[in-house]
Amino acid sequence: MTDNRNSDAAWNYHNATKHSYNSIRTNAHFMDWSNHPLPFKIYPALEPMRLPGEVRQSGVAALSAIAERVSAQTKASPDLEAVAQLLYFSAGITRRRKYSGGEMYFRAAACTGALYEVELYLVCGELGGLEAGVYHFGPAEFNLRKLRAGDYRGALVEATGGEAAIAHAPLTIICTCTYWRNAWKYQARTYRHFGWDNGTLLANLVAVATALGLPAKVVCGFLDASVNRLLDVDTRREVAFSLVALGRAADLPPQASSESNPLSLEIVPLSEREVDYPLMREMHAASSLESKEEVQAWRGGAPMTDSPPPAGPIVSIKPLSDAEMPRDPIEQVIQRRGSTRKFARSPITLGQLSTMLDRATRGVPADFLDPPGAQLNDLYLMVHAVEGLSPGSYVFHRNRGALECLKPGDFRADAGYLGLQQELPADAAVDIFFLADLRPILQRFGNRGYRAVQLEAGILGGKLYLASYAQRLGATGLTFFDDAVTGFFSPHAEGKSAIFLVAVGHSAKNKLQDRT
Ligand SMILES: Cc1cc2nc3c(=O)[nH]c(=O)nc-3n(C[C@H](O)[C@H](O)[C@H](O)COP(=O)(O)O)c2cc1C
Repeated sequence: MTDNRNSDAAWNYHNATKHSYNSIRTNAHFMDWSNHPLPFKIYPALEPMRLPGEVRQSGVAALSAIAERVSAQTKASPDLEAVAQLLYFSAGITRRRKYSGGEMYFRAAACTGALYEVELYLVCGELGGLEAGVYHFGPAEFNLRKLRAGDYRGALVEATGGEAAIAHAPLTIICTCTYWRNAWKYQARTYRHFGWDNGTLLANLVAVATALGLPAKVVCGFLDASVNRLLDVDTRREVAFSLVALGRAADLPPQASSESNPLSLEIVPLSEREVDYPLMREMHAASSLESKEEVQAWRGGAPMTDSPPPAGPIVSIKPLSDAEMPRDPIEQVIQRRGSTRKFARSPITLGQLSTMLDRATRGVPADFLDPPGAQLNDLYLMVHAVEGLSPGSYVFHRNRGALECLKPGDFRADAGYLGLQQELPADAAVDIFFLADLRPILQRFGNRGYRAVQLEAGILGGKLYLASYAQRLGATGLTFFDDAVTGFFSPHAEGKSAIFLVAVGHSAKNKLQDRT
């Protein structure tokens, strides 16, 4: 039995990184601003290559782009301008804000603590305007740096055990996560954040790819060591977390010639000193895949974890009609997105809530979500102010398009407590909690199922952000007291684990003020 099959590691990590009232009260950790990590990875010795500054707009409505899927068989290849569009709207700097200590750079996708631990690398054949190679994306100056010249896609075909979307993709984007950049604030809980923050970024990336007519597939099953070696990342600090195959070409890439040689490139240190949290590296090692056969056996066969049939009163969701549906383009919506810092206690409508639930949960193209339509997380809601829906707690039955009321009542105070005693979840119109039954997920996917369930939550959460902003509402991700969340939604949620939380409502301030 390999490490990945022994899911004790995922349970240990999950239980050890739960938040509770006491764990927060007794944690002496503080943020050392003098040692704040750099938000960018910098290769000082490599020549930068500027990306086209004028980023194109597809004009496709955000609420379509997050919900639809381009057929995997569609032949399409991005050119350099499309590459720029994909990178800018997933990880680019969309807003800068000066403060007494310097300047904050906010990015296209929400990220815990604005610490931006996800780095993007491109592995491509020759694209219009871009030579075949392995590149690192630098959001600060919006450029690429070439790490390797030539076509290395064959190395990814090998590393994914011949995954079809990767094999045919003209371009694959590799997302890596950097421990220290996020652990500076969140300590060992950062490994959960890898999934969340990589997920919100992927929600944007896949939506923009869809708007561009490019098939996209998120791939989590790969040989970790081979992908990390291709990028030559220092795995004590940075590790590959997900791949995204983009586009489809008729021809397969040339076979990988040999193991990738080390690059030994100079990198600017993130901080004067770094603190190591071994629990995360242990979790990563225990969820790593080590042979081609293991990779091939890993993908697909997602457990179907839909809730049991409703036992309580149900309300059908009522998405907006085509005529009522806001058509703001995906690029505009991403550009104006920002996490809401203060909600007004004013109601949203059932139509708005229904639209976001419907559009955000139509499926994610991912190797761990096969058969299509599988979803690892279940959505539970605390409804505070939704016209047409009584306040109370609900579970969403995706396949029936219905909300089942678990408990009527005014739960604003409970929401504030569960969301780490913050005002945001208490003031929101609705709080959407993601809970997952980890038992069948870890049974099927081993420890790596833990990466998948966090990543899926981040992607769905990212789509909820976009669906809210597309309707001119506000949203924010939040963190929570784990077991108290499960307790609140029990007995229905008995045995499930709290994975993610998004609060939605009207912002009390305008958007620009929100970006604090
Ligand atoms: C998963 C997740 C959890 C978050 N948790 C909190 C939170 O507990 N409290 C909070 O005020 N903001 C929270 N945020 C919002 C981030 O602070 C915000 O995304 C970051 O500062 C970047 O700003 P922007 O989203 O406006 O671009 C969270 C965001 C995400 C994606």
